[in-house]
Amino acid sequence: MIHHDILIIGAGLAGMRAAFEGITAGLDTAVISKIHPLRSHSCAAQGGVNAAINPKDDWHDHAYDTVKGADYVGDQDSIDLMCSEAPQAVLDMDAMGCPFSREEDGTIAQRPFGGQNFPRTAYAADRTGHAMLHTLWEQAIKYGTKVYDEYYLLKITTDNGRASGAIVMDIKTGQLHQINARAVCLATGGFGRVFASNTNAMTNTGDGIAHAMRAGAPAADLEFVQFHPTGLKNSGILISEGVRGEGAYLIGKDGKRFMQKYAPNKLELASRDVVSRSMVTEIMNGNGDDGAVFLDVRHLGRELILERLPQIRQLSIDFEGVDPIDAPIPVRPTCHYTMGGIRTDKLGHSIGVKGLFAAGEAACVSVHGANRLGANSLLETIVFGKITGKDMVDFVKNREGRERAASNGTDLAMVQTQIDELKRRPTKGAIKQAAIRKELTDAMQVDCSVFRDEKRLKRALKAVEKAKADYTKLAIDDKDEAFNTDLITALELGNLILLAEGVVRAAIERTESRGAHARDDYPERDDKNWMVHITSVYNPKTGDVELGRDAVRTVDNPNYAPKARVY
Ligand code: FUM
Repeated sequence: MIHHDILIIGAGLAGMRAAFEGITAGLDTAVISKIHPLRSHSCAAQGGVNAAINPKDDWHDHAYDTVKGADYVGDQDSIDLMCSEAPQAVLDMDAMGCPFSREEDGTIAQRPFGGQNFPRTAYAADRTGHAMLHTLWEQAIKYGTKVYDEYYLLKITTDNGRASGAIVMDIKTGQLHQINARAVCLATGGFGRVFASNTNAMTNTGDGIAHAMRAGAPAADLEFVQFHPTGLKNSGILISEGVRGEGAYLIGKDGKRFMQKYAPNKLELASRDVVSRSMVTEIMNGNGDDGAVFLDVRHLGRELILERLPQIRQLSIDFEGVDPIDAPIPVRPTCHYTMGGIRTDKLGHSIGVKGLFAAGEAACVSVHGANRLGANSLLETIVFGKITGKDMVDFVKNREGRERAASNGTDLAMVQTQIDELKRRPTKGAIKQAAIRKELTDAMQVDCSVFRDEKRLKRALKAVEKAKADYTKLAIDDKDEAFNTDLITALELGNLILLAEGVVRAAIERTESRGAHARDDYPERDDKNWMVHITSVYNPKTGDVELGRDAVRTVDNPNYAPKARVY
């Protein structure tokens, strides 16, 4: 058995930032990732990272914008912590050498982003996540963080309700390993792949959240799924909100801007849920073209596009055949981010399993509530990666983590048996995973996306139940050990199905419209009944997700009292 002090699963920004705290505190810190760390989905983040670093800005204003953006169900202690720590977190990255774009005077450049009242989004052209991830990777190499790349998480192990480590598979050989740790952190990102059209990497299958739930940790806010307004029409690939921050317009088939009808003050820079609903409404009312509207960048001029938006230009050319210097880009709302995740306190500790931590999109520390503000995601990774890393260090050095949790020797054998059983299933006449995945993700897209109602959600639940039943009859073609991607994707599908169930059950339960959860049959926000988180707990006896409630954490600040949310 392998032992480490801290085991972090997921090597994107949140995981790497947490690892930095562990290793620099002198603890034996290891990170596992199912891909090479530099291929983590954080790398795809384009537009920037929010922080009140301009002397004319104030973190309290950032916090206010975030509470409002979250439609008043974000946890206010977490939001205050994130926004107050944001400037230092960005300056830490700057000091580590992150190549942020600069103003003429050498200060870090910032651009406007949606739902905010100050241009507080620091950026590195339109490749901000890429720049930040490479910066933290350099630190991991510098300090000698142990990285297991191409290892896949199969189980979080527990000992008397405390996380004790993980069972993982070395994808290169197919061999299983048991890793014991004093503290375990999940930083595996979200599960946007549960929708057919999304901006997410193929890897975003919610593995960490699903395994945390199986280990007994509650998840929360799963019903809140963000649809980014500007995914490329055909592929769903992200076209950054930073493009609108630089002044791009949304136009319909008629060639006219339409956002003044929906958000007269902020127009294209209203919050994402508002812009996505407006676009879908235009498309439904006949002002779309082949299911899309257009993002017009032409007036920004060639020079600005080449300097600040080079990646989105190339993506538009490569994937849509459109050079935005000359023509508007066809775009449509596409699943981008899952606000829900493993329910934690404000320091990233699971509320259900001691010694289990979560950071980044995998966590529900609940800074995003019902709708995340653009560029608060990169921020969440570096603030809560840091804070959670520090809390794990404290847990290991000063709290229960001083004692190693015992690892049960039967865990590895049990997981091996499950894998062997899956591989042994005869393929002839069996259901193939691609078919199950397509049916599920198409159903989620049609019946559980930007607009929802009970009829559609119940149809989505039927599709989830069918996927669950089909999954028990699934067989894989590849029976080999090395690089068995057939097996890995089948296991990922099991995680997607569990999370789809959580999303749909919570979406049916929440009989109101709030943030990204817009129900045609309950069009109003209902503060009297729904200022709460819905929690999702996996019941191992039935195999079902069961719902509960958890209070929204508030602070004493009258500015955070719910109001009508207009932009
Ligand atoms: O639009 C974007 O650049 C995405 C940023 C984000 O999701 O935070």
